[in-house]
Amino acid sequence: MPSSTLNPPDSNGTRAPLPCRRVPALPHIASGKVREIYEIDPEKLLFVATDRISAYDVVLDQTIPDKGRVLTGLSLHFFDLLDTPNHLVTTDLTGLSSLSEEDRRELSGRAMVVRKAEVIPVECVVRGYLYGSSWREYRDGGGPTTEHLPEGLRMADKLPEPIFTPATKATTGHDENLTEAQTRDILGDDLYEDLRSRSIDIYVRASDYAAERGVILADTKFEFGFSNGELLLIDEVLTPDSSRYWPADEWAPGNEIPSFDKQYVREWLDHQPWDKTPPAPHVPGEIVEGTRARYVEAFERITGTDFDDYPFGTVS
Ligand SMILES: Nc1ncnc2c1ncn2[C@@H]1O[C@H](COP(=O)(O)OP(=O)(O)OP(=O)(O)O)[C@@H](O)[C@H]1O
Ligand SMILES: [Mg+2]
Repeated sequence: MPSSTLNPPDSNGTRAPLPCRRVPALPHIASGKVREIYEIDPEKLLFVATDRISAYDVVLDQTIPDKGRVLTGLSLHFFDLLDTPNHLVTTDLTGLSSLSEEDRRELSGRAMVVRKAEVIPVECVVRGYLYGSSWREYRDGGGPTTEHLPEGLRMADKLPEPIFTPATKATTGHDENLTEAQTRDILGDDLYEDLRSRSIDIYVRASDYAAERGVILADTKFEFGFSNGELLLIDEVLTPDSSRYWPADEWAPGNEIPSFDKQYVREWLDHQPWDKTPPAPHVPGEIVEGTRARYVEAFERITGTDFDDYPFGTVS
């Protein structure tokens, strides 16, 4: 069956979320804004990225075709490149005998078998540039993320060195930036130091890698968890949803910088009469296509490979 018949565009040019339906043979344990999570056994999860997109913490009714595959492909790329203890077990689903052929086709390129972890309730944000909520705190006289910054910086300036600016992992509502003292209280000093040094090390390596491809990694967010006492990098890694990537040739400090992510759809939403509460306005087909193109471009620039060739095979 051609894949287009599995998930056909509707009359607006958009498609149903993938996977279109729950995978029936596995217990479904959680839905995030973007992911569906199933339990394989007490130690392992099936971690599936759908094509859903959220903006201002509201999940839009329209999906972005292939977005989940871009997110999964980039996470796999970086798990491989970074070689740091992480939750990936395999992308090979052949061992999951309860999945039907249709399940396998729907999940191809967007599912990973991962180690189930006890999630640390802090988002590990690293920033190399002053932007977003950190810039707003700085401009307005300072806040948790600006504690260690010098004076006189402009929006989008490169920071003297990358900073670790953790945030709460809010189950509802918006994440809130934490001070160093608040984070040390939550984590304890040893875990704080561990997460800080691991996060900054990964950011530095990934931003050097991106820079060689003409892309600035302005900031990014990691999640970590414990599995059998081991501290693992979990969730998605260095994707356009968890990171702010800028085309290097469009970086001009003092200005807003276009990014390879949902900024495009956010800008469209900003021009609609909408109070940022659900439901979001209906996103027209051309904005859906423009957003898809940016996700695919991010994949291609960062991995250096053609998205049409993805998935490249199973990883184990
Ligand atoms: N190995 C793992 N074990 C257990 N939970 C995990 C693991 N990896 C990721 N998670 C959790 O799975 C969820 C992923 O779902 P999703 O990305 O859709 O969440 P979300 O609603 O987008 O939240 P956020 O905006 O914080 O990413 C997150 O809550 C994440 O903490
Ligand atoms: Mg998430």
